[in-house]
Amino acid sequence: MLRCAVIGATGYTGAELVKILLRHPRVQLEALTTRQETAIPLKDLVPGVSKKSPLEIRKFSLPEIKRKADVVFLALPHTEAMGTAQEFLRAGKIVIDLSADFRIKSASVYEKWYGVKHRAKKFLRHAVYGLPEIYRDSIQKADLIANPGCYPTAACLGIAPLVRDGLVELDSIIIDAKSGVTGAGKKLNPATQFCEVDENFYAYKVNRHQHTPEIEQVLSETAGDNIHVTFVPHLLPLNRGILTSIYMKKRGSVRVSDIRKSFEKAYGEEPFVRLRKDGEFPALRNVQGTNFCDIGFTSEPDEDEVIVITAIDNLVKGASGQAVQNMNIRCGLPEEEGLLG
Ligand SMILES: NC(=O)c1ccc[n+]([C@@H]2O[C@H](COP(=O)([O-])OP(=O)(O)OC[C@H]3O[C@@H](n4cnc5c(N)ncnc54)[C@H](OP(=O)(O)O)[C@@H]3O)[C@@H](O)[C@H]2O)c1
Repeated sequence: MLRCAVIGATGYTGAELVKILLRHPRVQLEALTTRQETAIPLKDLVPGVSKKSPLEIRKFSLPEIKRKADVVFLALPHTEAMGTAQEFLRAGKIVIDLSADFRIKSASVYEKWYGVKHRAKKFLRHAVYGLPEIYRDSIQKADLIANPGCYPTAACLGIAPLVRDGLVELDSIIIDAKSGVTGAGKKLNPATQFCEVDENFYAYKVNRHQHTPEIEQVLSETAGDNIHVTFVPHLLPLNRGILTSIYMKKRGSVRVSDIRKSFEKAYGEEPFVRLRKDGEFPALRNVQGTNFCDIGFTSEPDEDEVIVITAIDNLVKGASGQAVQNMNIRCGLPEEEGLLG
């Protein structure tokens, strides 16, 4: 059995991670942590946990977790995770970090977008970006996996095959994304309170969201050329899910059949990416609570545009499900283990 710990188990991604790991047949949950002094019975936080379960979320203790766990998931706010990650990496643990702290390769780019000094620079070059559909081979050997952001997962899966195969103009990418409110985390924030969100819909951080450099880094690596994107996030009055509409200009005489071939080549064997039939497009209802990314696209023969629509659950494929997928890959387990119904 794999001995796992979840640091920050009281947050949205932490609790989702615990739910998935509890039903994983090869995982033993050894430690669940909080900053709070008083232990929280897991059954009070995660619906469906047996009333007899002895599991508790307890105050973080580094020596105890070092002793008990082999794989450590960090579900902490960005800028907080990097310090904790270092401690576990030095102790020889496999660290899967759900925060943004190790996703951006350049410390100066991270510092510009996140507004703090990077305190674990020496580990940046060891970090592998945990998007299995693109970086699976590197994930198999990584001790520090930087689990992708929710928006970058939804955007990159819809764009990467087309830039890799040279089917779209690299300077033409516009990403219009909408997220449910759990994407903002559990901490108090006036902009995400019920009265602000209910019956409302708005764009925020227009073309200055911190996920922009992450999307650009992945797409630039995939294309082998610098890519700049226009990225506009919106807040949906829903609990969970991200729907992304992506607009790109086709190159030269590219046909819709070329686009389908490119997606099929990239994702035909992928367990968690589903391509919709021609004329069908993803809906949040079909991905909520799952680790799937659904993709649909369209392109008229006499128009120069291709439109790709992707949908994921931000807490599953956009965070905790993808983290477990990465653990399975890294630890040599079947990739779907614990993630399918
Ligand atoms: N939400 C998403 O859809 C999503 C998707 C992808 C990635 N992520 C990333 O995953 C990480 C966790 O996100 P989340 O949405 O689960 O956040 P969250 O709901 O706010 O939970 C974060 C948890 O971290 C703990 N914590 C420890 N030190 C903290 C500190 N100094 N300040 C605040 N909380 C602290 C808190 O637990 P205690 O208060 O009990 O100590 C809290 O429950 C973030 O880095 C986020 O960017 C989130």
